[in-house]
Amino acid sequence: MPRDETDLRLHVACIMDGNGRWAGRRGLPRTDGHTAGEENLAALVRVAVKRNIGWLTVFGFSTENWRRPRPEVRHILGLHEKLFGRVAELNELNVKVQWIGRPFDSREARTPKYVQRAIRKAIADTAQNTGMVLTIAFDYGGRSELVAAVEQARTESDGITSATIGEHLYLPELPPVDVLVRTSGERRVSNFLLWQAAGAAIYFTEAPWPDFDEAELDAALALAR
Ligand code: IPE
Ligand code: IPE
Ligand code: MG
Repeated sequence: MPRDETDLRLHVACIMDGNGRWAGRRGLPRTDGHTAGEENLAALVRVAVKRNIGWLTVFGFSTENWRRPRPEVRHILGLHEKLFGRVAELNELNVKVQWIGRPFDSREARTPKYVQRAIRKAIADTAQNTGMVLTIAFDYGGRSELVAAVEQARTESDGITSATIGEHLYLPELPPVDVLVRTSGERRVSNFLLWQAAGAAIYFTEAPWPDFDEAELDAALALAR
């Protein structure tokens, strides 16, 4: 996955954790925390554009998150429909949307049709933008991605090498992560961009995702520069 040497713009990847705890501290239901998290992401995209970040990749929903209570999952799905629906805003910012996750036609994929539609529309309607690339991980798992890439490399390439695995990742053009952020005091790597994050600096913060603001982003960026 060689990086274009002329592209010096940073790739920041965020594990957006702590929505539930943010809500709990306020005596609110967890779903309110997810709503605040989605709004914070929309605000952070603006800041990231202002900072001239090249690639912002966010973990919206993992392959493991389907095990959460149905009402919570439904709420999060609705928020992704809303997030992918922010096309006017993203066009105004010249942001190109991508999605990373289990392909809709794969056996294990679980993304409902209405979310698939929102994803396809956001990608198509922002495809002409030339600024920051915002990649939203939904129904994503780093291990699933690697298993699929290795399977394809075995059947479609001459052999399994770093290069052939890299070519068969969900989004081969995604550059290596420069800074990996995890919010809410969890000092753990999750099942996120396991291949792409090799070599990334890691920014852990106590702030829960809805509070991850401009100052937080700057602190994360300081690790990369
Ligand atoms: C992150 O917040 C959002 C998703 C995983 C979808 P959490 O819902 O994990 O919040 P906490 O970790 O319980 O506080
Ligand atoms: C990580 O948060 C996944 C997303 C942010 C989508 P989780 O709250 O699901 O992760 P664990 O279970 O604490 O590792
Ligand atoms: Mg969590």
